[in-house]
Amino acid sequence: MRIFSGIRPTGELHIGNYLGAIRQWLELQEKNECLFCIVDLHAITTPFSPDRLQQNIIKLATAYLATGLNPEKSIIFVQSQIKEHAELAWLLGSFTPLGELRRMTQFKEKTKRHPEHVNAGLLNYPLLMAADILLYQTEAVPVGKDQQQHVELTRQIARNFNKKFGEVFKIPKVLLSEGQKIMSLQNPRKKMSKTDDPRGCIDLFEEPAEIQKKVMAAVTDPGKKIKYQPERQPGISNLLTIYSLFSGKSIKFLEKKFENKGYEAFKKSLIKVLIDALEPFRKKQKELSSREVYVREILQQGRKRAEVIAQSTITEVKKKMGLIL
Ligand code: TYM
Repeated sequence: MRIFSGIRPTGELHIGNYLGAIRQWLELQEKNECLFCIVDLHAITTPFSPDRLQQNIIKLATAYLATGLNPEKSIIFVQSQIKEHAELAWLLGSFTPLGELRRMTQFKEKTKRHPEHVNAGLLNYPLLMAADILLYQTEAVPVGKDQQQHVELTRQIARNFNKKFGEVFKIPKVLLSEGQKIMSLQNPRKKMSKTDDPRGCIDLFEEPAEIQKKVMAAVTDPGKKIKYQPERQPGISNLLTIYSLFSGKSIKFLEKKFENKGYEAFKKSLIKVLIDALEPFRKKQKELSSREVYVREILQQGRKRAEVIAQSTITEVKKKMGLIL
């Protein structure tokens, strides 16, 4: 299968990005043809600092490598280095109804959160995401739950194009993982996010002392039962999910193991699991952070490989739309 996914270079990666997306990518890269993109053109739709953007792009590429994405197996590249992404987004926008873009949950949330920054980029965001996916004839898109709606719109856009202009695009499906929605440690009814309260968010390369502080301060629920009941006990259920995914133990097993043990013992054990699981990532990231030339070289190779596919699709699209090549 051809796989495509991406992350915005907006700062640190958190364990939600890892459990929702990258963990699946690592498995998928073993048996599929994968493209993993650093989607910088999406990152500039919310307030950002031009001085820091380039550094954040390199940092995210380093993080991809530190988690185990392998440039010999997967194509790792930067979105803005391939102009066909923006070009296809424009073409897709020419026949996508405005109402489809306006009804996107992320558009509504982001315009609420940044009322001083409601730009056309935020509205057109899903067109660019559809272009990312469709340019590579993608068959499956591994993402967290919050991106499912965008992939569904991508499917609709692909179908509309194929019907209107003739078959070009494959119809991609969404791949959700068990960690599809990791919640904030401070507000377990909201998803973990880079832009929220930093105490609610554990970075993938977080220092052990910080992990300890954040887990000990994580909001739990009234009562003392360690039981997976996301509606009634969202705090402990979220921590159980995190524990289970990082340890490989089932939630049922953990409920039994911590029956009558209380939150403190559970949290102490979770801290150890997290510190141990994240240690190899932290080490690799430290090692790679002094090898920027190598990281840039990988992005150049990725760019060359991705470009060939992107150019072939856009040629097909332009032909079908009657544009001069
Ligand atoms: P972004 O950068 O917000 O997030 C990257 C990936 O992490 C997932 N994720 C989560 N999963 C579980 N729990 C959470 N709390 C959590 N927070 C984030 C996201 O679902 C995503 O998979 N629009 C995308 C980037 C993008 C893209 C694409 C993805 C652009 N083009 C094409 C796939 C295909 C985004 O903003 O992700």
